[in-house]
Amino acid sequence: MTRLVVLISGRGSNMRAIVEACQSGEVAADVVAVISNTPNAAGLDYAREQNIATAVLDHQTFPDRARFDNQLQAVIDSFKPDWVLLAGFMRILGRPIVEHFLGRMLNIHPSLLPLYPGLNTHAQVLAAGDTEHGASVHFVTPELDAGPVIAQTKVAVLPDDTEQTLSARVLSTEHDLYTRALRLCVNGDAQLNNAQCYREKLENEAPTIPVASNGHQT
Ligand code: GRF
Repeated sequence: MTRLVVLISGRGSNMRAIVEACQSGEVAADVVAVISNTPNAAGLDYAREQNIATAVLDHQTFPDRARFDNQLQAVIDSFKPDWVLLAGFMRILGRPIVEHFLGRMLNIHPSLLPLYPGLNTHAQVLAAGDTEHGASVHFVTPELDAGPVIAQTKVAVLPDDTEQTLSARVLSTEHDLYTRALRLCVNGDAQLNNAQCYREKLENEAPTIPVASNGHQT
């Protein structure tokens, strides 16, 4: 069975959706470990309840980024994953660890990449007056949030939106988006090829889910 390691820093709702998709058979894989860089990440409790192996690597206890990354790579490798999934993992990873997992490390980012890489995407969308926003799942490459996109969801930005309402609307699409993109990868229907995402079955799996003007997926 395909082995997944999920990296989190907090709530872990995307990780939970991935675990559930594996349990239901929607994704033909097992989450073999959940790793957090913050000791009290809420998602760790859920993973433990599910009897999934957990590991904590507190970045604050490492003298520099390189040593944190080295140790993280060793811990991830000890679980022999086929895929490494960043799911709300709030540490920037250096080039060596990213290249080590190149082509088998995915991330979910709350924006319509290449728009708004980095932090505070919802606030930036509101400040810019954009009328649409969304989320992207992409292959991780050394440049932050710049790897080839596998799939995206779009939501409408409503006139009375706040950061909270907008982030909740985006999050409501993320779980299905991540499991859908992951399924493509696990099934060999999406792969990183010459720094681009190569997808089979484009006719069956639209890269963008259409949304109604109320922001709900159609
Ligand atoms: C999500 O919005 C994800 O796109 C971003 O961080 C958030 C994580 O949420 N990278 P959760 O921890 O999966 O609930």
